[in-house]
Amino acid sequence: MRALLWLLAPLLAACAVTSRGMVVAPEPLAADAGAAVLREGGNAIDAAVCIGFVLAVTHPEAGNLGGGGFLLVHTARSDGLVDARETAPALATRTMYDGTGKEGSLVGPLASGVPGSVAGYLLALERWGSMDRARLLAPAIRLAEEGFLVDAGLARSLERNAALLRRFPTAAAVFLPGGRAPAAGTLLRQPALAATLRRIAEEGVDGFYRGRVAEEIERVSAASGGILTADDLAAYQPKVRRPLVGRYAGATVLTTPPPSSGGIALLQILAMLPPEEFAALPPVQRFHRFAEAGRRAFADRAAHLGDPDFVAVPMARLLDPIYLAQRKASIDPARATPEIAAGGTGGSAEGESTCHFSVVDSAGNAVACTTTLNGAYGCGAMAAGFLLNNEMDDFTTAPGKPNQYGLLQGENNAIAPGKRPLSSMTPTILLRDGRPVLVTGSPGGPTIISTVALIVLQISALGMDGRAAVGAPRIHHQWMPDEILHEPLPGALRAALAALGHTMRAKEGPMGDAQVVTRTPAGELEGASDPRGRGKAAW
Ligand code: DON
Repeated sequence: MRALLWLLAPLLAACAVTSRGMVVAPEPLAADAGAAVLREGGNAIDAAVCIGFVLAVTHPEAGNLGGGGFLLVHTARSDGLVDARETAPALATRTMYDGTGKEGSLVGPLASGVPGSVAGYLLALERWGSMDRARLLAPAIRLAEEGFLVDAGLARSLERNAALLRRFPTAAAVFLPGGRAPAAGTLLRQPALAATLRRIAEEGVDGFYRGRVAEEIERVSAASGGILTADDLAAYQPKVRRPLVGRYAGATVLTTPPPSSGGIALLQILAMLPPEEFAALPPVQRFHRFAEAGRRAFADRAAHLGDPDFVAVPMARLLDPIYLAQRKASIDPARATPEIAAGGTGGSAEGESTCHFSVVDSAGNAVACTTTLNGAYGCGAMAAGFLLNNEMDDFTTAPGKPNQYGLLQGENNAIAPGKRPLSSMTPTILLRDGRPVLVTGSPGGPTIISTVALIVLQISALGMDGRAAVGAPRIHHQWMPDEILHEPLPGALRAALAALGHTMRAKEGPMGDAQVVTRTPAGELEGASDPRGRGKAAW
């Protein structure tokens, strides 16, 4: 049934075309709120800030006040990457998870980094936005206060994650009324969240990072074995970084620099798959070479990447055309490259715990924003009406031990106070003649990189439209474990890849939830929301 759904996916992607601005978000109320901002004359950054806060209410598995993310901005004036990634608390140490078992870096406040999202959105608004903060927070406040109807997707997600939420009475009281996940159609109200949002609307950054909310985070953390303090909140700083810039198929690629690995891996993969050559390959070879490019990019990720404010990331070398030509030349068309490094175990199956939204306004400003709690519903603990993240698991919590995504990570990503854990989030914007032609990103942990790379390849090298690209089946190779993780694929294609020496592993559930805006040859904006999710294109 699922295979059939994805074969029909290009027809099902929630899609729209307009010459005005376009919003594509993973949840319809958030998309509508963003589109309303554009209609009122707000720019893409205003709409993005509004969407980010609404998702914290209506998409609680991943939208957040208690997490972090990356917001990539293109305007005629300037480009920038708002790094709102969480940081390790001041009391964090590299060995803090020794002896804490499997759950130490995943469940409860000890797993949480210092939240970055609120500071990130407000920084983006201050730098590039045009509207009043209170106006942009109003829809989120209303939806938290008055409630919204749980849709089938959220009902299923709450049901799947009820065991985590049940362990935290405050979260259970909100999300499991009467002790169980609400059925679709139930009104979900979040008054404590509304109060926090109101504080942010009134006081700005200080409404979250100082005073009542920060103190409440410290209290909740201390009560359940965490180390977050109000001082950590007061010390948090989002950063504006220079986006990574590459070229592909005649377009400029703006993407995410460290502390995400996403942009470097994306540019490496694209460099190993030049457009004309990729388009001329038969399908089996496209998948094979894509997997081999991923294998090489993720091997570099493990060895070299981390927070650039703490470790030296050899960015110039990793993106050096001569180095990448050598990496490309090492791909054998006839067989998978054998690996001898120690293997990991398979990654987690769920792909619902991060979210991405894409916005382009009528003036050609664009935002690609990916934000997360890491795991669905983060660490489960709730303070001041919102869930705390479990982003600490993105650090190398124990050398040689794969994290929840099966990623093996290196010394450069070891824990240190104030440091940002390495991410795979890859919000990306492609420009032609200075105008955005593709804005995209996705959730999915390390598979984010593959989802974004496939969408860029399909649109830029194969000439697909956004709707077809967002619906096409996805594969992923992350070096370790040495396997191709894949969505349903035709049997003959699977067999041909296996015959080249690949271990094939069918993914449980879909890969990613991409939100795509493209510019059609006629100059119109097309929005396509991933048929795997519950999102929507709106304008
Ligand atoms: O930053 C990262 O790479 C991860 N914390 C993202 C997690 C994620 O995408 C989970 N979602 N499906």
